Amino acid sequence: MKLPKPDPDALAYSAALKRRIGDEIESAGGWIGFDRFMELALYAPGMGYYSGGARKFGASGDFVTAPEISSAFSRTLAAQAVQILALSAPQMIEVGAGSGRLAADLLLELERRVALPERYGILDLSGELRERQRATIGQRAAHLLERVNWLDRLPERFDGLVLANEVLDAMPVHLVRWGNEFEDLENPAIFERGVGWKNDEFVWSDRPAEVRVLERAKALGIEHPPAPGYLSEIGLASTDWTAAWGSILGKGALLLIDYGFPRHEYYHWQRDAGTLMCHYRHHAHGEPFYLPGLQDITAHVDFTAIVESGFAAGLDLLGYTTQATFLLNCGLTEILARTPAEDYLNYLPQAQAAQKLISPAEMGELFKVIALGKGIDEKLIGFAQGDRSATL
Ligand SMILES: C[S@@+](CC[C@H](N)C(=O)[O-])C[C@H]1O[C@@H](n2cnc3c(N)ncnc32)[C@H](O)[C@@H]1O
Repeated sequence: MKLPKPDPDALAYSAALKRRIGDEIESAGGWIGFDRFMELALYAPGMGYYSGGARKFGASGDFVTAPEISSAFSRTLAAQAVQILALSAPQMIEVGAGSGRLAADLLLELERRVALPERYGILDLSGELRERQRATIGQRAAHLLERVNWLDRLPERFDGLVLANEVLDAMPVHLVRWGNEFEDLENPAIFERGVGWKNDEFVWSDRPAEVRVLERAKALGIEHPPAPGYLSEIGLASTDWTAAWGSILGKGALLLIDYGFPRHEYYHWQRDAGTLMCHYRHHAHGEPFYLPGLQDITAHVDFTAIVESGFAAGLDLLGYTTQATFLLNCGLTEILARTPAEDYLNYLPQAQAAQKLISPAEMGELFKVIALGKGIDEKLIGFAQGDRSATL
């Protein structure tokens, strides 16, 4: 694997986190689940990838998200936000707000549409990002900063719109391996792949899966047992998080945008090495043990599991479609048309960026938008026109 070399400070930072995780593995008796490894690598206080000082977003970081590609993304999302806010309450919470770009551009567009929420709460696991979010909103929309507040935890009750872009994929997952020896094809052994610590290095280590992981793995309803050695992920953290909103939300909606698939595609027999992915300075690879704290670790989202956990918690499915369909339904084309095509110096870069958001070869199809909610009876505009490629 050829990746850019980190500077000595970054290497020392990563070595300290590696030691911290190694210590935890030792004190846990030599093994932790991959979910715990991912949690520490990303969120260990002051040391994890998101909770420490790594640059993360944008051209000088490790990956680029839709709000960073183009403000047209957030401005288009605003059309959907206007409707949900009008149908529920004039309040928003953005979860995992990253650099703050989405918040700033969305608020500016809501102002333009005379539909500003009274409060815009930001909830992020990373305290380090708070300062960055405040600075971004201060630069781009200083006069709206007074509406923004930062939350330390999920609220007890909430009415309004909850927005999360690329957050579910950043929640820890369990790794599951279906056994190598299939004496009983209908009932293969199911192992949990965790992390051990040997000679100061992380090593993969499989154990019989713990009860919740086992139950979920068995309930996947995979039609044919996957091939021996089939490896995939189970995202209990993202489904628990979704379910938590069932008792928080009075009237309103969760709008979640992320890359992933419905279950039949996620656990397709050909996807036999799962979806785990690491990002380091715009290089994508599959080695989660590489430089903990300096690289992002993600897994695709099983949207069927998100819907099931939402249903079980009393949420309705308000819509599910691809990012391309959602953005076009919400008026992406009209937003782009605000810049005349003759003004090609401004128009061309915007059109190219928009193309990235909707092209099937880029983010348009892999990324999905799902809305779950309570007390919303009207059809949401983002899901008004169907899309045959996105069914649960
Ligand atoms: C990939 S980044 C996406 C950032 C931003 N939404 C964007 O689109 O640019 C994931 C973000 O989610 C946050 N995050 C992950 N799990 C979270 C949770 N359970 N609650 C709040 N924030 C979370 C991380 O700290 C990080 O800021």
